[in-house]
Amino acid sequence: MAPRVPSSLLLVGAALLLGLAAGAARASNEEGDALYALRMRLSDPNGVLQSWDPTLVNPCTWFHVTCDSASRVVRLDLGNSNVSGSIGPELSRLVNLQYLELYRNNLNGEIPKELGKLKNLISLDLYANKLTGRIPKSLSKLSSLRFIPNSYMNIFP
Ligand SMILES: *[C@@H]1O[C@H](CO)[C@@H](O)[C@H](O)[C@H]1NC(C)=O
Repeated sequence: MAPRVPSSLLLVGAALLLGLAAGAARASNEEGDALYALRMRLSDPNGVLQSWDPTLVNPCTWFHVTCDSASRVVRLDLGNSNVSGSIGPELSRLVNLQYLELYRNNLNGEIPKELGKLKNLISLDLYANKLTGRIPKSLSKLSSLRFIPNSYMNIFP
């Protein structure tokens, strides 16, 4: 006969698992919320952001968004998408982001200094937009960022 596990212990275990799952869902929803705030900010005549449904448990199935195996957003690919508007500070909440590709659009306004919080950023491509102002100093502290010189040259043609 199999040893009996007290049912109260099973209950505690189940509650713990549920709690963990809820925590994970909340974390990825926070990234979904940040991306949805970007969608609200942008004008999107070609409908490239149509799949960005904030009622889904996380943004990992949205077009142009890539997650890692832990459902954390690591890429945003919106190059050549004909979107306009300002970038906004919300993207700084995607703390695991490695690739932020926003080149060849009609983005205007300044580059948010908050993007300096993206410690994992490897590539930031903003060229061929209508951005104004300077490259925020906060970005120069991002040691992992590899392609900023390229972006820099192309922001101010
Ligand atoms: C981009 O959007 C504008 C409307 O804002 C539209 O007139 C134009 O045809 C679009 N360009 C492309 C390449 O889809």
